[in-house]
Amino acid sequence: MYRRHFSYASNANARRVIIMTLNIAEIRKQTPACNDLIHFNNAGASLSPLPVHQRLLQHLALEQQTGGYEAASQAAPAVENFYAAFARLLHCQTNEIAYAESATHAWNSLFHAIPLQPGQRILTGQSEYASNYLALLHMARSKNLRIEVIPNDSQGCICLEHLTAAIGDDVGLIALTHVPSQCGVVHPAAEVGRLARAHGILYLLDACQSAGQVDLDVTELGCDMLTGTGRKYLRGPRGTGFLYVRRESLQRLQPDRIDFHSARWTSENHYEFRDDARRFESWECSVAGKIALGAAADYATQLGMPDIERRVRMLAAQLRTTLRGLPGIQVHETGEQLSGIVTFSSGHESAETLQRRLRDSSINTSVTRLNGNLLDLPRRGLGDINRASVHYFNTEEEIHRFCQVLHNT
Ligand SMILES: Cc1ncc(COP(=O)(O)O)c(C=O)c1O
Repeated sequence: MYRRHFSYASNANARRVIIMTLNIAEIRKQTPACNDLIHFNNAGASLSPLPVHQRLLQHLALEQQTGGYEAASQAAPAVENFYAAFARLLHCQTNEIAYAESATHAWNSLFHAIPLQPGQRILTGQSEYASNYLALLHMARSKNLRIEVIPNDSQGCICLEHLTAAIGDDVGLIALTHVPSQCGVVHPAAEVGRLARAHGILYLLDACQSAGQVDLDVTELGCDMLTGTGRKYLRGPRGTGFLYVRRESLQRLQPDRIDFHSARWTSENHYEFRDDARRFESWECSVAGKIALGAAADYATQLGMPDIERRVRMLAAQLRTTLRGLPGIQVHETGEQLSGIVTFSSGHESAETLQRRLRDSSINTSVTRLNGNLLDLPRRGLGDINRASVHYFNTEEEIHRFCQVLHNT
């Protein structure tokens, strides 16, 4: 399961690699909670596979046996692997990767390092994540900046025409959430990247929901900075995250915090920030979390991100189709580019009652609340909504069972 199965077509002109499908039975064995649960809350926090969970526990045990500093030094290659694993996942260099305690922490470290000047504009999308938008508002207030929210088009994606028209010399940043948490669309992040690069504007991409479900390539995405969390589609531990900074963009960013890990104290009154993305790290962190998150990135890469992406899309499409056939259920996604996040409402029950009823049948879902999504949900005429988020280890049988329980009000 852990090794990629592939064979080559014999066509001499094009030696295509034919990828075999994921071994779902084996994957589910490594996800023991699948025996007792239907876990459709992967956009909240997914289930860690055994190899990832074991790496976490192993290091905690080592810390207990030998001491925290001694354990870290013994596990140095596994700690270093974190950077290599994310470089493989995102198709970048190890010196462009840093560890963070959460996606919010990562995003804020980068955002506060951007030299924004009073009067400048920040362009963002209608589905920007709540905490990011709050940080924009807070910064706009203290630095006298202007935020411009680019509306979505008829497909539910950021309107590229509107974005193009909004670009000007006074734009200091484009901040976009790739896959929103409150809607199952995938925004055209690479097209936004092309615009940002053409105009030399810094581009900060929140990949919190896309990392682990979408095959990400930072060169194709064209972003200067990208952030994510461990616990969602990457299936890593809670309290872990990561960031990427393009090598060429590093010198444009001044971290607003410093310690003797992120910088070198060169003489009594002088210091130099590290010359890599780790200038955004703190010395103290969960070493076990970092090792396990590296293992989670490796797990995803070894299964194959293109296969993961295909299967997540296939399952989510099936779930939407089945839900649309149920009386009283309204599915909220439109458009073509969709993720593993499926949002819907029932005409019979409130979002919370429905979530509780599903939970009573051992089905995990979540509720997306209006008060956490004031940019997006009111514009779409929605209040609190239900969210079912599938991952590759879910099955068609689970979708069938989920819809049966949903139907039985
Ligand atoms: C799109 C998006 N960005 C950022 C975050 C924040 O992640 P974290 O809780 O790791 O800070 C979330 C969490 O739900 C999210 O969905």
